Amino acid sequence: MVVSNFNLQAHNTFGINAVAKQFSCFSSIDELENLINQTNNSPLLILGGGSNLLFTKNYEGLVLKNEILGKTVIKEDENHVWVQVGAGENWHDFVIYCIKNNWGGIENLSLIPGNVGASPMQNIGAYGVEIKDVFESLEAFHLTSKEVHTFNNKACKFGYRESVFKRDLKGQYVICNVTYKLTKKDHKLSTSYGAIQEELQKMGIQEPTISAISRAVIAIRSSKLPNPAEIGNAGSFFKNPVVSSDIFENLQKEHPDIPHYKQADGTVKIPAGWLIEQAGWKGKVIGNTGVHKKQALVLVNYGNATGKEIFDLSETILQDVFSKLGVALEREVNIVGGI
Ligand code: FAD
Ligand code: EPU
Repeated sequence: MVVSNFNLQAHNTFGINAVAKQFSCFSSIDELENLINQTNNSPLLILGGGSNLLFTKNYEGLVLKNEILGKTVIKEDENHVWVQVGAGENWHDFVIYCIKNNWGGIENLSLIPGNVGASPMQNIGAYGVEIKDVFESLEAFHLTSKEVHTFNNKACKFGYRESVFKRDLKGQYVICNVTYKLTKKDHKLSTSYGAIQEELQKMGIQEPTISAISRAVIAIRSSKLPNPAEIGNAGSFFKNPVVSSDIFENLQKEHPDIPHYKQADGTVKIPAGWLIEQAGWKGKVIGNTGVHKKQALVLVNYGNATGKEIFDLSETILQDVFSKLGVALEREVNIVGGI
C-alpha cells in the first residue's frame, strides 16, 4: 500500500520532522518491482534504518523502505561459512546472530545502527575492520532494466566510506541481499585499535574471543557515541580527511600532538573530531542543534531541529575548520533534499 504525506520522523535517527509525498515498504523483489511500476518516474529514495541521512526538506517523491528479511547459509566448508542476509535485517542483530553461531569477521562492527542493505553503501567500518574485509557479493535490483545484478567485492569499488553505489551507480540500484564470508574457526581477531586492547584489559580478558571483542566494542561505543533513541544524530557527520604529507607536516609543526594515521601511499588521515575540537566546537549548543560533548564529529538534534539547521551548522563548522586549520572536511552523512 502506498501512503501519502507520510511523516518520516520515526524513520531517521536525527529525528527530523520531514514528510514524504508517498511512502511504502517492500519485503520481496516482486513487491519492489510492482511499486516501481506504479511510480511514474517520481523521485525515489530507498530507506534502511535512516541512520546515515539528513532530510533538509520534505521529500517530494516516493520513499521505499526495504524490509527484505532472511539469513541463509548458502555455502560452507571446513573453515568458512557464506551467509546471505536480506537487506532489511538489522545490522547489529545480524552481528550478534553471527557471534552466537561462532562465525567471525564482523564482531568489530557491533552496535553500528542501520540495516544490512546499507552496509555496502559506504563500506561501513569501525575499530580496524571494514565490511569489504569479509564481503563476498550482493544482489541488487537495477531500477531501469528491472533486472537483478550480482556484484562481487571488486565490482563494488570499496574505499574508505565509499562504494560504487555512492559514486558511478548512485541511485541506480536497490540492494536486496548481501553475502558475507565468515570464519568458523581460527578467527582473524582484530584488536590493534588501541581502545579495544584497553577495554579488554579492563574486562580482565587475556585471550579474546569474537564475543569478548564485540562486548569491548559495545562498551567503547556506548561510552562516547550518543544513543539516537535519546539524542538525534547520524554518527560521524564528516569523514576523516586524508591530506598530503606536506600539509600534515605543516599542521604537526603547530600541533605536535596531532593524532594521525599514515596511509600506505604516503598520505595521512587526520581525525575530523580532533580538527573540530581544535576549532573550538566540541560541546557547543546552537539553538536546537549542537556538537556532541564527548565526540566532536557527531552533530546532534537536541529536539525540534530542522534538517536545514543541522546542515547550516555543518557548513559553518566546515568553513571554520578550513579557515583555522586549512583542512577541508567532507560530509559523510547523505543529505536528502539538497541545501
Ligand atoms: P540509511 O540511512 O537508511 O541509508 C543510507 C544511504 O543508503 C541512503 O542514501 C539510502 O538511500 C541508501 N540505502 C539504504 N539502503 C539501501 C538499499 N538496500 N539499496 C540501495 N540504497 C540503500 N557508520 C560506520 O560506517 N561506522 C560506524 O562506526 C558508524 N557508527 C554510527 C553510530 C551512530 C550512533 C549512528 C547513528 C550512525 C553510525 N554510522 C556508522 C552510520 C550508519 O549507521 C551506517 O552508515 C549504516 O550503514 C546506515 O544504515 P541505514 O540502514 O540506517 O541506512
Ligand atoms: N578526537 C578528538 N576529539 C573528538 C573526537 C576524536 O580529539 O572530539 C580524536 C582523538 O584523538 C581520537 C581520534 O580522534 O583518538 C579518533 O577518535 P575515535 O576513535 O572516536 O574515532 P573517529 O576517527 O572519530 C571513526 C569513524 C567512526 C568509527 C570510529 C571507530 C569516521 C568518519 N568515523 O571515528 O564511525 O566508529 O572511527 O573506528 O571514520 C561513523 O562513520 O558514523 C562512525 C561513528
